[in-house]
This record gives sequence, structure tokens and C-alpha cells, in this order.
Amino acid sequence: MNLFIDDLLIFFDDSLLNKISKKCLEISNQAFQVNNGNIPKWSQAIDTIDAFPKGKVSLKQPYISINQDGVDSEALMTELRKLIPWRKGPFMINDFVLESEWNGDTKWQRISKHIKSLKNKHVLDVGAGNGYFTLRMAMEGSKRALGIEPFLLFNYQFRAIKSMIESPLNALLLPIKLEDMPKKPIFDTVFSMGVLYHQRDHMAHLSQLQEMMAPDAELVIETLVVEKPEDYILVPKGRYAKMRNVYSIPSIKTLKSWLNDANFNNIRVVDVSKTTTAEQRKTLWIGENGASLEDFLDPLDDSLTIEGYPAPTRAIIICDR
Ligand SMILES: C[S@@+](CC[C@H](N)C(=O)[O-])C[C@H]1O[C@@H](n2cnc3c(N)ncnc32)[C@H](O)[C@@H]1O
Repeated sequence: MNLFIDDLLIFFDDSLLNKISKKCLEISNQAFQVNNGNIPKWSQAIDTIDAFPKGKVSLKQPYISINQDGVDSEALMTELRKLIPWRKGPFMINDFVLESEWNGDTKWQRISKHIKSLKNKHVLDVGAGNGYFTLRMAMEGSKRALGIEPFLLFNYQFRAIKSMIESPLNALLLPIKLEDMPKKPIFDTVFSMGVLYHQRDHMAHLSQLQEMMAPDAELVIETLVVEKPEDYILVPKGRYAKMRNVYSIPSIKTLKSWLNDANFNNIRVVDVSKTTTAEQRKTLWIGENGASLEDFLDPLDDSLTIEGYPAPTRAIIICDR
């Protein structure tokens, strides 16, 4: 995928990030070689979108907005629909809105007021989804915002958004897992949002995050927690809120002790919020039969998931290396 290699070379034209570029290129190229029957459809959509004139990107809260002159926006939206489901966003493309399942702006509001400025910083966004937050990080003035996300569709969604944008934006998404990243302590802020509970080995994830952090870097963890006063870990049997691969959901006290055991410093909980159906909602952009939070909760008691566990509550913890 040439577009991808060009992006990478432009993005990594920087002495620090150069240290990891070769390995990243190798891994990313391999990732795009997989046998996935959707790739021709996704690639065709990107090629069509890429042929339209580019536009300026700005923030029209909650949307990342792109404004292109002389573009048939309906035709564009038709191409973007080929990349359904859009979990993360939302975006505004000219006069049209792409209402993703998650209103990501809500999470970004909770987080951004507590973190060190991203201006001129090297930022790593681990498990970045389609890069909505990576783009928000770039729009806050970071020098480079690198998202890593193994799920291929999300990489195509990012590519679709990025190929509508005129000027080079300092954001890139690569199909790489954290554990496969070359370990170099070069990032000033590292984000792991919505990822920790998907890890079989949460302590390995924490130490891999640490390995990417510059000496005075900040770590931002956003993850599911259970509101229990004592040391506690919920290990769901089967699914949690219909999600597969949820391995462990700690109490806040347990989460803090994990970070402490992983040798992070200055650990502080800055937010705890129950997920609402305003933040995670059913929209047309997840597909006609797409399910969302309202389907994952007990219909008679929304304090419980459909499996009978405490309903999703998320904490934001910030700490230093
Ligand atoms: C729930 S989504 C969160 C997306 C986004 N960060 C957010 O906060 O909305 C978790 C993402 O992490 C990715 N992920 C899971 N394990 C990962 C790993 N080891 N390295 C990188 N990404 C990972 C998944 O593919 C998934 O897209």
C-alpha cells in the first residue's frame, strides 16, 4: 500500500521517531498482507475518497470537521459507509455528520483538562481505534501523534479521514500491537484508553507502556473499573456487556496497586464516570442491526450488564514514569 509507506516516511522524518521507523514499516506492511475478503472494498473506498479535493480540518465540538470545496459530499458519505461500523468519532464531513457509536469528545473532555500540554510533544496512543483521539492529540499541537491499532478496518477508517485532509497533520495510525513495537523510551505522553481490560496480562501491558516512555513522560490510562472499596478484581466468566476478551476489571484501589507495582509514580485518579447511552449510542453508522450500550444492559436494571455484572464505569488515572 504505497500511500501508507509515503505517510510513514513523512511522519518519521524526525530524529527521535526514526529510531523506530524501520521496524514499524516492516510490521505494518506485514499486517496489510493478511487475507481479508473486505480489503478490496475498503481499498476501493480509500482510493475514491483520496481522489476528491482535500479540505481543512478543524474542531466543531464534538466533531472533527473537514471542509472540502467543490466536493460531492453524498458520494463521499457513500464511500465512508463502506467502512461501517464506525465505533469512534464523531466526524463532520462538509455538511454531513458521521455519528459514530461513541461520542469520543465526551471522553476527551474528561481527559484533556488533566494532562500536561501536548504541544510539541511526541505522543503515543495505544489501541487507538480509528484514530479519533490520535487526531485530537495532533490537533492539540503535538509534534507527532502516533496511534497503534491492530484491527485493520480501523486503520482503513483512519486512512479515509486522513486522505480528506489538506495539510499534513502530524498524526499517523499503524497496524501494530504494543507488544510488537520496538521498545524505545521516546514518547512524552503515552495513552492507553480502553485497552487494559482487553489484556490477558495486565502487568505486561503496563511495563510495555513504560518502555515507550521518555524519562519525564506521563501515562494516561482509561479503563473499566468496578466500584468496590477494597482490593478486588472482576474476572468475567464469558462476556462482559456482550464484549469478548474482557479479562479483568479492577477496583480503583487494585488498579492503583498495579500501577504502583509497575513502578509508576505520582499516581492519581482524575475521573470516574459511568458510561451513559449519550456517550455510547446506537447510530446508523454502526450498521442497521448494530447493537450498543442500551442492548448490553439489563433491561430491568441499568446498573447491571445483561450478564448481571456492574454496568460499565470507567476511570482515568494519570501517572509519571
Ligand atoms: C475499546 S477500544 C478503545 C479505542 C480507543 N482507544 C478509545 O478509547 O475509544 C480498544 C482497542 O485496543 C486495541 N488493542 C487491544 N489490544 C491491543 C494491544 N496489545 N496493542 C494495541 N492495541 C490493542 C483493540 O484492537 C481495540 O481497537
